[in-house]
Amino acid sequence: MAKSLFVCQSCGAEHRKWMGQCPDCGGWNSIAEQVIEAAAMRAAGKGKVLPTSAITDISSENSPRRSTCIEELDRVLGGGLVQGSAVLIGGDPGIGKSTLLLQAAARLAESSACDGAVLYITGEESMQQVNLRGQRIGTMHKRLQLASGCELESILATIDKTRPTAVIIDSIQTTVSNRLTSAPGTVSQVRDCSAALIQQAKQTGHALVLVGHVTKDGALAGPRVLEHMVDAVIYFEGDRGHAHRILRTVKNRFGPAGEIGVFEMSDAGLIGIRDASRLFLAERARDVPGSVVLACMEGTRPLLVEVQALIAPTVYATPKRSAVGVDGGRVAMLTAVLERRIGLPLSQHDVYINVAGGARIIEPAVDLAVLLAMLSAYRERPVAEDIVVFGEVGLTGEVRPVGQPEVRAKEAANLGFARVLLPKENHQRVQKANIIANMRIDRQIPLALMPVRHLSEAAQTLFTTA
Ligand code: TYD
Ligand code: MG
Repeated sequence: MAKSLFVCQSCGAEHRKWMGQCPDCGGWNSIAEQVIEAAAMRAAGKGKVLPTSAITDISSENSPRRSTCIEELDRVLGGGLVQGSAVLIGGDPGIGKSTLLLQAAARLAESSACDGAVLYITGEESMQQVNLRGQRIGTMHKRLQLASGCELESILATIDKTRPTAVIIDSIQTTVSNRLTSAPGTVSQVRDCSAALIQQAKQTGHALVLVGHVTKDGALAGPRVLEHMVDAVIYFEGDRGHAHRILRTVKNRFGPAGEIGVFEMSDAGLIGIRDASRLFLAERARDVPGSVVLACMEGTRPLLVEVQALIAPTVYATPKRSAVGVDGGRVAMLTAVLERRIGLPLSQHDVYINVAGGARIIEPAVDLAVLLAMLSAYRERPVAEDIVVFGEVGLTGEVRPVGQPEVRAKEAANLGFARVLLPKENHQRVQKANIIANMRIDRQIPLALMPVRHLSEAAQTLFTTA
């Protein structure tokens, strides 16, 4: 006997009957019927006993990493692809997921570490299309096997037969299981197909990479359950107006989360950029008010970015506060701090904050840079171009220490900055690191440190020395 279940396509909640609105997530018209075959319903009964073993006795040697030979990709993966693991790569359409994975697949196939084939299964493009792209970006290799198909059962059979070391499924939304009646891309399809593919990867030991599409509001299409099922979740970011793309680890069971990899889209595919700070500062405006260079951390990697502010008299009843690249709520809070602690009359002004180059900063170390950019914009006084800033700011205007100050300062020195404005409590740690400013080869001077305790002190230091 077949039984029906009603599953919300946006949150994955299951209901007994159809409804217009999902009571769990509030989405309208998102509930679809799913038929469960009686055979698929597991018979209740006693399960068999699982073998247990002491944690110290389990060797992890049979899950080595395979480097993809793409340094920026290895970085976000935490060193490479782990055998028997599943990685989900999400991103907007056209951002370069297929391109990057084709490149990675070819590198894997040609590397000596790879003893079997790499299987690239595309459900979106024909094999000719992939071949054309491969020729253009130079990813031709005999051990890179292509297949074009959408049906889950055939994909599983193909993997079983080829016994590859790595499998790439492009994309999970086009994969359909013929055991389910729902359309491709629906929650039940995505969930069941991923579960089958992941289980197979765990059993046979190949690395599995799933490509996932992102919906308009930025969530991975399909349920969040997919994120729980895989070992690592990586997002591809960056807007199409910029040539560079950022890979960001959201979750990783085998390495640190929050790592980023930076790429540039060229006519020969994606090129990894090791020196990302230089890229983000490339078009920096010098000697203009409202621009401050921030040293932030992206995972374990320091990154210098330009924070820009624009302050203009408002024409609205409620002034606008708008932010790109930093959290809007944070900017509203910092605006209030500036009003109360420094006394800027911002209630009649619109405030716009932008992180140049399309970077997105989530750590609190951005505070001081945002505040000083606003101050510089309001007073129409530029900040000296050889200064880098970092620090968190509290509601009383106190400047708080941040993590890894010496790494940030070092990156600033490497890129030719001479001075760093930093929280007082970070001063000692950075001083101990004895960082030499990399200004000219013939002149070796230590990086100048300007420790501050309070926002007002920072403002004073910056606008009297500048
Ligand atoms: P693609 O990898 O197909 O994106 P996704 O799989 O994420 O949908 O990337 C397609 C875009 O990348 C397309 O707009 C063209 C551009 N592109 C280049 O600029 N150079 C290249 O060498 C390639 C292959 C693509
Ligand atoms: Mg694609």
